[in-house]
Amino acid sequence: MGTTIEELESRRAEAKLGGGEKRIAAQHAKGRLTARERLSVLLDPGSFEEVDMFVEHNCADFGMETQKFPGDGVVTGSGTINGRLVYVFAQDFTVFGGSLSERHAQKICKVMDAAMKVGAPVIGLNDSGGARIQEGVASLGGYAEVFQRNVLASGVVPQISLIMGPCAGGAVYSPAMTDFIFMVKDSSYMFVTGPEVVKTVTNEVVTQEELGGAVTHTTKSGVADVAFENDIDALLATREFVDFLPLSNRHELPERPTEDPWDRREDSLDTLIPPSAATPYDMHELIRKVADEGDFFELMPAHAGNIIIGFCRIEGHTVGVVANQPMVLAGVLDIASSKKGARFVRFCDAFDIPILTFVDVPGFLPGTAQEHNGIIKNGAKLLFAYAEATVPKITVITRKAYGGAYDVMASKHLRGDLNYAWPTAEIAVMGAKGAVEIIFRGKTAEEIAEHTREYEERFANPFVAASKGFIDEVIMPHSTRRRVALGLRKLRDKRLENPWKKHDNIPL
Ligand code: HXC
Repeated sequence: MGTTIEELESRRAEAKLGGGEKRIAAQHAKGRLTARERLSVLLDPGSFEEVDMFVEHNCADFGMETQKFPGDGVVTGSGTINGRLVYVFAQDFTVFGGSLSERHAQKICKVMDAAMKVGAPVIGLNDSGGARIQEGVASLGGYAEVFQRNVLASGVVPQISLIMGPCAGGAVYSPAMTDFIFMVKDSSYMFVTGPEVVKTVTNEVVTQEELGGAVTHTTKSGVADVAFENDIDALLATREFVDFLPLSNRHELPERPTEDPWDRREDSLDTLIPPSAATPYDMHELIRKVADEGDFFELMPAHAGNIIIGFCRIEGHTVGVVANQPMVLAGVLDIASSKKGARFVRFCDAFDIPILTFVDVPGFLPGTAQEHNGIIKNGAKLLFAYAEATVPKITVITRKAYGGAYDVMASKHLRGDLNYAWPTAEIAVMGAKGAVEIIFRGKTAEEIAEHTREYEERFANPFVAASKGFIDEVIMPHSTRRRVALGLRKLRDKRLENPWKKHDNIPL
């Protein structure tokens, strides 16, 4: 007997109920939205087109043959965000706890494959008890199929993971291989092994939140980028975020018309740098004053705050910003900030997003903790990332650019396209006092003070570097936006290629 329209409608209604009213109420009671509700916030109204609504699992063990839910715990398809195509999957915790079966994995793989074919971002909303325990190895295979696609998609289409519930065991490795991870406070967690296993193996007593909650991962571990208060905040921020990204590595950057004059003069920047070199100032102020309409989407704001990363727009075009932050650890480069900066620079380079670097860096952080944990290899990540990047690179040194950190921060020698310095810039091998104490070891305190003044006068300025052509121009702070905008215009058609290779060997 042929199916009727009524039957289709009733099957759809059944599928939309997921695991049923009771489980939906339980989900709401935890302050979480259901998979479908989340998609309705994330996507433009009416734009979601679902696929595989009637897929069911194929497991016949543990009585599973009698428990089937259309869709099998994940809602998949495509839609638009402000009119631009994205592919999505949202795990449905009301069906077997959103656990991943073979068929569930196949559904995720199908949307990933579709996104790769046309070139569109993949956004995954994760809320899952992990591997579907009843399916055993079939589920593990399913995970690996997703992992493989994450890797092949990396650098081709942007991949964003929202963690909106549990995400544990090997399941964390799919989000880990995506470009950005957003979490929800007090509602989501990620760990390789949960508190009970931790207690058994290491005797540590720890809560889920402490071990792998949103705050832990956006402050201590740096695994996730941003922690949001609730599902809705996370989803709305994702919409805003996607507006900055190209659809794929073969699409142009999105453009958002702006009323903000490209040559807006910011006189307040002329006094941003405090008179004393030891006094910090907030680098966010510079970023916001240069960005279109002061709009800056910061990533990892709570982790390694000594470097700031995020996206803004100049003349409507997306720009990746990397900036040392004098307010945190004097803006020094350490292991965490180098890793944070490096991954961001590589994302920008992979997707042809120009990089704007603001430099105020006293050097690399000294000490046994840093050395023993590999500051050499980790600092080299940022150096490597900047050096291999072929996108337009504009650098503005506001104050300190000392030592190796001067080289690292998108210097002229690493193919910086336009390297500017403010008159307050101090470009030198190290701070004056440290330099003098080495060169004039054994001298009296007065002599050291005298030599320090001399050294400061001679080297604590941008003109030595400018006289060598390492700085293209010393610019007025108030004209920074105009200079950057003009530079980006000129560099829009920049073409630069690295030598052919299978891939590089960045110091991991
Ligand atoms: C099948 C699962 C499931 C799973 C949850 N459920 N996890 N079904 N496989 N992995 C089901 C429950 O049976 C229950 O069904 C419903 O989902 C809701 O689960 P609850 O336990 O009632 O919810 P809650 O109290 O919120 O606890 C959530 C949870 C817990 C913390 C996620 O369910 C849990 O610990 N699950 C097991 C986690 C786990 O060990 N997963 C395997 C990890 S190994 P009913 O019918 O009652 O609604 C792994 C390897 C991946 O993932 C490797 C990849 C390489």
